[in-house]
Amino acid sequence: MNIREYIKTNRILYTISQFNSHSNIYLVGGGVRDLLLHRSVLDIDIVFETLDYKFLDYLTDVFKVESIIKSPFLTWKISIGDIEIDLAHTRGEYYREPGALPETYPVHSIYQDLKRRDFTINSIACILTPNTGDIVDPMDGYHDLKEGILRVLKAGSFLEDPTRAFRAIRYKNRFGFIYHPLTEEEFEHAKKLMSRISASRVRNELERISVEENRKEMFREIGLKKLLFHWRDFFNTFREDMLVSLHEYLDFEKDTWFYFLLVYTRDIEALGGCGLLERKERRSLERILALDRIEKEIMPEELHRWFRKFSDDEVLAAGALQGLKKEILRKYLLRRKDVRVLHDAEEIKEMGIPASRLNEILTILEIEKMKGKLRSKREEEQFLRVLKSRHTFLP
Ligand code: CTP
Repeated sequence: MNIREYIKTNRILYTISQFNSHSNIYLVGGGVRDLLLHRSVLDIDIVFETLDYKFLDYLTDVFKVESIIKSPFLTWKISIGDIEIDLAHTRGEYYREPGALPETYPVHSIYQDLKRRDFTINSIACILTPNTGDIVDPMDGYHDLKEGILRVLKAGSFLEDPTRAFRAIRYKNRFGFIYHPLTEEEFEHAKKLMSRISASRVRNELERISVEENRKEMFREIGLKKLLFHWRDFFNTFREDMLVSLHEYLDFEKDTWFYFLLVYTRDIEALGGCGLLERKERRSLERILALDRIEKEIMPEELHRWFRKFSDDEVLAAGALQGLKKEILRKYLLRRKDVRVLHDAEEIKEMGIPASRLNEILTILEIEKMKGKLRSKREEEQFLRVLKSRHTFLP
């Protein structure tokens, strides 16, 4: 399918192409790259050289969106279902200092806008209207796309923005490309200035990697290139075995990203203080690292003794690091999902069981129920009476 035909099949792009515009409206960035690679276009970044408010009105009308969110830098955002469209005036960029977020200023030519970008494959524009489907490609990005080469636009690109090192790793491994020698050189620049990047920018890059199909290769390259070590030096290990298991066990969800940090460090104190983690995430890692060794040949239900308070992701991450079989963990998670104790806490306490032992007792009760025992409230009650007479149950 050629580009013009593809645009016709994409509701959003087609609608934009039908706007009667006097000046060019372009699709830019990852969207054009994916379109030329015949991949589905997930990111819709639109730019125009002349701001026409009629275009913004047209979009709100046809897509029946309530409003367009305006940000201070000549950019707008609209959401259509779960698709977000970013709209912007063509912009130039400069960096006050390496690693800082760029400052932008309006420019009146698409060429200038394309020249500020990271890689040639991301610096192609496709006209959506009026000459639908025409390509503007001043950096020869299409050539690199066909050859599978990831090339920076200029020497010093990663000096301006060291996060581009993470982006390079993401694109190279996502598309199976190779680095152009100029890009290879940039990694050395990135390392020198990596420590200046804010924690939130590093976090954003790692979150994006954690949902990628080839995240294992990406995290491996980050380890081998010591990118995180250059950011903060307590990321001073690289555990390939852990990476392989975490990759195999964890879902491809953004909020699993932080478990992968354990591949590079065990210094939970430093990790907690470096600004990357939310409190909840830090607690998860602490809990996982505090676990004693769990026997490998364990019955799924018995895992409840260690994991009762763990979330599903925590169970998978901890299990991966402990070398437990994924199948056993999955069985355990499935069984615990439906387990319901028929007595509430008050009723248990009324039977003379002290509050201090409630957790312990509930754990045992739930394990029995997961095994398919104690189906009625009466059976539960009998079991509780027996438990009451014992002193300790848990490891
Ligand atoms: N960009 C850049 N330098 C950065 C970040 C972004 O030059 N540090 C430019 C690139 O041209 C990129 C565009 O901004 O294509 C949009 O950025 P983003 O949404 O992060 O990337 P996508 O190209 O859409 O890639 P992905 O498929 O990973 O979302």
